[in-house]
Amino acid sequence: MSYQAFILLGAPGCGKGTQGKILGSMLGFLHLSSGDLFRSLDHTTEIGKKVLGFMEKGELVPDEITVELFVQHLQTLADKGALNPERDIVVLDGIPRNTNQADMLDSKINLVGVIHIDILDDDIIFERLQKRAQQENRPDDANPDVVRNRIDVYRKETADLLSYYPPEKIFKIDGNQSVIKVHYDIVQQILRAIGEPVEA
Ligand code: AP5
Repeated sequence: MSYQAFILLGAPGCGKGTQGKILGSMLGFLHLSSGDLFRSLDHTTEIGKKVLGFMEKGELVPDEITVELFVQHLQTLADKGALNPERDIVVLDGIPRNTNQADMLDSKINLVGVIHIDILDDDIIFERLQKRAQQENRPDDANPDVVRNRIDVYRKETADLLSYYPPEKIFKIDGNQSVIKVHYDIVQQILRAIGEPVEA
């Protein structure tokens, strides 16, 4: 079974989760975040502890664990009727995270487009994540060394996906705008990608 999918791609704090949640609130779109999936695990179990160990350092969880858990999650949603491959477009947030994961997920995904939320200025990322660290309990936001590592991992591994997928499927969005303007730009690109008319 394969799923129509948009991939949200961008550095930590660029707005993938924020925009994914908004899109996922619309009928026909389902927001799926690998980070949320990992955070929802029972961290007293062996697998939960292992995953948490990588997250706390800002390292990627190994590809085999990540893809296995994610594919299981897709299957559970499909079994429950919460995900219908003929009706729904999944909005993937945080996965795939490198070209190996992209290869492993290839048979599961019918790619509609990659929404690249671009933020070049690391200061903006640090500012956003520091603010969130005060508001939410995300240990990987509170430590600047961990945030730096997450940014480095993004630039060294995840950004390779921008040359892995065909250029005509990549839609670059300026992430350094208000949430509503980023959303507006994303919606315009999605409409084009799914063949809906867009007013000039
Ligand atoms: P994950 O949860 O995916 O974290 P991340 O990629 O570091 O992304 P963030 O959640 O920090 O940022 P975001 O882009 O979603 O921004 P958000 O909208 O939240 O991954 C966490 C960890 O899990 C990884 O480090 C890794 O260990 C592991 N992991 C996950 N997936 C994996 C995978 N596939 N393989 C291996 N390991 C994996 O916004 C951030 C803040 O900014 C919020 O407070 C928000 O309100 C604010 N904000 C958003 N947009 C704007 C805006 N336009 N203007 C002002 N503020 C804004």
